[in-house]
Amino acid sequence: MRAIRICSASRLPFAIVTAVLAAAALMSCPWPARTLAQPGAAAPTFYRDVLPILRQHCQSCHRAGEIAPMAFSTYEETRPFASAIVTDVGSRKMPPWFADPSVGHFVNDPSLTAAEIQTLARWSAAGAPPGESADAPPPRHFAEGWNIPQPDLVVRMPKAVAIPASGDVEYTYEIVPTGFTEGKWVAMSEIRPTSRENVHHAVVYIRPPDSPWLRDLPKNVSFTASEMTNEQDMHDTHTTKADILLVYAPGSSPDEWPAGMAKYIPAGSDLVFQMHYTTHGRATSDQTSIGLAFAKVRPAKRVLTLQLTNSSFVIPPGVGDYRVEVHGSLPNDALLLSFFPHMHLRGKKFEYNILQPDGSVDPLLRVNYDFYWQLSYRLAAPTPLKAGTVLQAVAYFDNSKNNPHNPDPNATVYWGDQTYDEMMVGFFDVAVPANIGKPEFFIRDGRAN
Ligand code: HEC
Repeated sequence: MRAIRICSASRLPFAIVTAVLAAAALMSCPWPARTLAQPGAAAPTFYRDVLPILRQHCQSCHRAGEIAPMAFSTYEETRPFASAIVTDVGSRKMPPWFADPSVGHFVNDPSLTAAEIQTLARWSAAGAPPGESADAPPPRHFAEGWNIPQPDLVVRMPKAVAIPASGDVEYTYEIVPTGFTEGKWVAMSEIRPTSRENVHHAVVYIRPPDSPWLRDLPKNVSFTASEMTNEQDMHDTHTTKADILLVYAPGSSPDEWPAGMAKYIPAGSDLVFQMHYTTHGRATSDQTSIGLAFAKVRPAKRVLTLQLTNSSFVIPPGVGDYRVEVHGSLPNDALLLSFFPHMHLRGKKFEYNILQPDGSVDPLLRVNYDFYWQLSYRLAAPTPLKAGTVLQAVAYFDNSKNNPHNPDPNATVYWGDQTYDEMMVGFFDVAVPANIGKPEFFIRDGRAN
């Protein structure tokens, strides 16, 4: 966390500006008397003008117990950060968002409008006045400990995983039976680690009862690949056809599917938690949960998470812009919903495109990748794609010494689990008819592939 900055803006210069504006207004335009009657009415106040912006764009992270180290729930909490807020929203460092604004529109884009940034700047310049608490917008209700509404069900890994103080930690798995006697449609889900700083990523898979995946491994206890005796199991920990319920990485937000769409968990399924922990100098433990909110009515469409992956790259030492590409054609019609790019510390940019038969490229998303902010990007207008559409993912890696996160610019870098290795995964979500699961979706022209 950076040092706390105290607002240094003085009241005076803004008071003068306000007075001049008010005088100009008096002379030229018929402002309502109420406005004129309040000296300095033009200065935004915390309760009336600033709090609505904080509620809508900031408090998902800036409230007690969430990932930001300072809360912006009350005037007293926010006031000391007034000038820091102006700096960080002005440079668009906050709220965090990494998509190139010229490509695509995304429902979860938290970016402020120019007018909102202006309001925050004018508030700070006016000395960050509180205003009248009666002007506050209705409070935004957050479920305690969740950013989705209160979950219908919380599935917690039954066994806490011990995390050492240092060194690499192998991927850790925990298989948790749901006990569902009927299929469940999940409209929203959220992963909550108990030791957030140690979770590099978490993936929760749905293992239907007929899946052979990791079938002979124990339930309700944690294990790693190297504890396995069966070669097939060791291999299978890293390759699965199981559908993904949710991927979590630093900064990522919960899943909330559009109306009429949801993930499906068949009756009798297990949830398989795949946890990648990192160490931070202090031994601790983690017991991650996933919160599920079920759809109120049976949805018309089922959401599947698919991926474009290239795992055979070799990134040479010192190269600042190494390109890795992968593309594939869609086996069946689908509605494209969202993206979640994943790389490690050398990740620099990530793109998704549609490759047209005439060779032209339709850009879908351009991300200036930041390992510490792995976000999902949800299309404002989900895009229908025909079977045979070619989707492309392109990643750029910065293995030069100019990359401040680069653990070793002299290394040749390959695919691997640890953050000093690299990954290139373009996750994306599609909606398909409700009766189609992942295996059926991959049947092309009546043939499995
Ligand atoms: C997705 C989570 C998230 C959202 C949304 C978010 N922040 Fe942050 N913010 C953080 C985290 C985490 C930090 C601390 C780490 C950092 O500085 O990157 C932070 C740090 C800051 C700081 C730096 C404080 C200091 O140390 O000087 C300011 C200012 C800030 N945020 C303002 C905002 C404002 C204003 C908004 C909304 C318009 C916002 N943030 C939205 C997560 C978030």
